Amino acid sequence: MTRRRTMGALIALAFLAAGCAGGAMTDKKPLYDRLGGRPAIQAVVDDFIANVAGDARINQRFAGANIPRLKMRLVDQICEAAGGPCKYTGQSMKVAHAGMKITDAEFAALVEDLVKSLDKFKVPAQEKSELLGALGGMKTDIVNQ
Ligand code: HEM
Repeated sequence: MTRRRTMGALIALAFLAAGCAGGAMTDKKPLYDRLGGRPAIQAVVDDFIANVAGDARINQRFAGANIPRLKMRLVDQICEAAGGPCKYTGQSMKVAHAGMKITDAEFAALVEDLVKSLDKFKVPAQEKSELLGALGGMKTDIVNQ
């Protein structure tokens, strides 16, 4: 009986451990909440696009862009990617950047402009790296298309 109880306890422990591993050993809230929800994402995107507009390395790329729509789509996209309650309704990254032949250097410049905003809004290192990781996963669909 004791032995069986020990087994039961072990199995319960194993399940607990598996649950922790699924959440990367944390009981953290979704990235969306940790970022501060949609208003915080909106504030970062506004500041980020202002950085891009002042960035001579890439601003020519956005000369013909619909900035209010781009901002709205970026907010939706980041919100959704962070596990928030938004739905991105824009084009796929491949289609949106098709024919632009965006270079690695231009991609890096844009990420740099975003990092400036994340730092300005004091987004902590963990959240910053999770967000940049999610966007970095889109790189192959954006660069050299
Ligand atoms: C992680 C990196 C990037 C993300 C997440 C991203 C995201 C987006 C999104 C969501 C759109 C809107 C698509 C739509 O309206 O359906 C868009 C459009 C666009 N992107 Fe990017 N992009 C990235 C990198 C870049 C880079 C590096 C450049 C150029 C230097 C660039 C230039 C553009 C341009 C010119 C448009 C069209 C805007 C318009 O016509 O209104 N993107 N991008």
